[in-house]
Amino acid sequence: MSSPASPHHMTPDEFEQIGRDVMRWVADYHRNVEKYPVLSTVRPGEVRSQLPDHPPLRGESMDAVLKDLDRIILPGVTHWQSPNFFAYFPANTSGPAILGDLVSSGLGVQGMLWATSPACTELETHVLDWMAEMLGLPELFTSRSSGGGVILDSASSASLGAILAARERATQFRSNEEGLSERLVGYVSDQAHSSIEKGMTVAGIGRSNLRLIGTDDRYAMRPDLLEEQIRKDRSAGLRPFFVAATVGTTSSHAMDPLRSIGEVCRREGLWFHVDAAHAGTAAIAPEFRAMHDGLELADSYCFNPHKWMFTTFDCDCFYVADRASLIKTLSILPEYLKNKATESGAVIDYRDWQIPLGRRFRSLKLWFVIRWYGVEGLQYFVRQHVAAAQEFARWVEADPVFELAAPTPLNLVTFRHRKGDEATRTLQERLNASGDLYLSHTLLGGKHTLRMSIGGTWTERRHVERAWRRIQEEGRKV
Ligand SMILES: Cc1ncc(COP(=O)(O)O)c(C=O)c1O
Repeated sequence: MSSPASPHHMTPDEFEQIGRDVMRWVADYHRNVEKYPVLSTVRPGEVRSQLPDHPPLRGESMDAVLKDLDRIILPGVTHWQSPNFFAYFPANTSGPAILGDLVSSGLGVQGMLWATSPACTELETHVLDWMAEMLGLPELFTSRSSGGGVILDSASSASLGAILAARERATQFRSNEEGLSERLVGYVSDQAHSSIEKGMTVAGIGRSNLRLIGTDDRYAMRPDLLEEQIRKDRSAGLRPFFVAATVGTTSSHAMDPLRSIGEVCRREGLWFHVDAAHAGTAAIAPEFRAMHDGLELADSYCFNPHKWMFTTFDCDCFYVADRASLIKTLSILPEYLKNKATESGAVIDYRDWQIPLGRRFRSLKLWFVIRWYGVEGLQYFVRQHVAAAQEFARWVEADPVFELAAPTPLNLVTFRHRKGDEATRTLQERLNASGDLYLSHTLLGGKHTLRMSIGGTWTERRHVERAWRRIQEEGRKV
């Protein structure tokens, strides 16, 4: 129990003892995660209806909390860590990431400045340089050159950071001072993630100033249409400033041609951002790096280890080629944050690389993951997942009931029932209701399309095979 000198607190001894129980709870969860219906079946309000209306006046035992975890919370959880979770993109976690996160919580460090915890900043810079080497990113994204990386919560924040820096560069840093006085225009493909549109609204550019450029038969951006649109906008007196390309779109994993788009950006003087939120992880295996061809023309790049690299949510790696632009965009220095290290100019203060001031020690979980798996371990899983997806795509192709909806460059397979939208929708509903697997959908070519996304920590070929058997079984009934 808590000591008389420090009533109410959990003592370190209690923490150690209870911590073992909680650790066992998490380990048991991972041991058994395959047994749960993947998609939670609770009705809206069911979880809340079991919680007391008012908070406890007196502290309770952790035993009671753990019991409620099993009784109330677990039934309301959709099991993202189930090997039968094939929806969206994965948010896979792993033992080393959880432990790294635990240490981060234990240290309770707030790393807004180098001075507020030098290791928080220096480990982050170092791990991001490691990560750049692991993905084969251009040297200019490393801290050894004019650029560098930062860990943010999400790809959405990275894209917003890129839009803001692009806005400032295009207006000679005047819009931070005076607000926007001209109409800036940004460009993405009609397959880009909605986070870019959101970034444009948050940055004050406006949704109507984001152009959706048409795509080819593989759903990749057409650079000729990009160039044409830029020309039209310039002749209408508008100010093109930003292009975002996607490596692995959300709907179909399409790969925008970075080199051609980058060349257009260079000619036109536009900020070129590359969003590889999910697919970026594949570059750990050199045979998949062709998707990054032309990346040296980019001003910024992001990918999420929290999707497909076993690093507990949240963890996005955001790289810029010219850190000065980003820092000048986001830097603000009130008296209470001034310190000698900052003034010396010899350190990185990551608060200048992001929108919030405070920041967690996120690099610990990434460091734990990289050290535990090693590059070879991570390559192994990328290859396993891609091979399983390629095999799944071949099964779909060979089955007269189904058709592929788009090419399968990596580990996302898009397909549908040949009978049309109604059949595809019914199939999806029945599969998801069965609890055996979970698939999400998208629209491709105006048609309801299922997405089989294979990248879970515990997903093996046998799970993919079983999912396919269930899809075939139900597919024949609709
Ligand atoms: C291509 C792409 N970009 C951005 C995002 C948004 O990621 P986040 O949740 O990290 O903001 C996603 C999410 O799936 C995505 O697929």
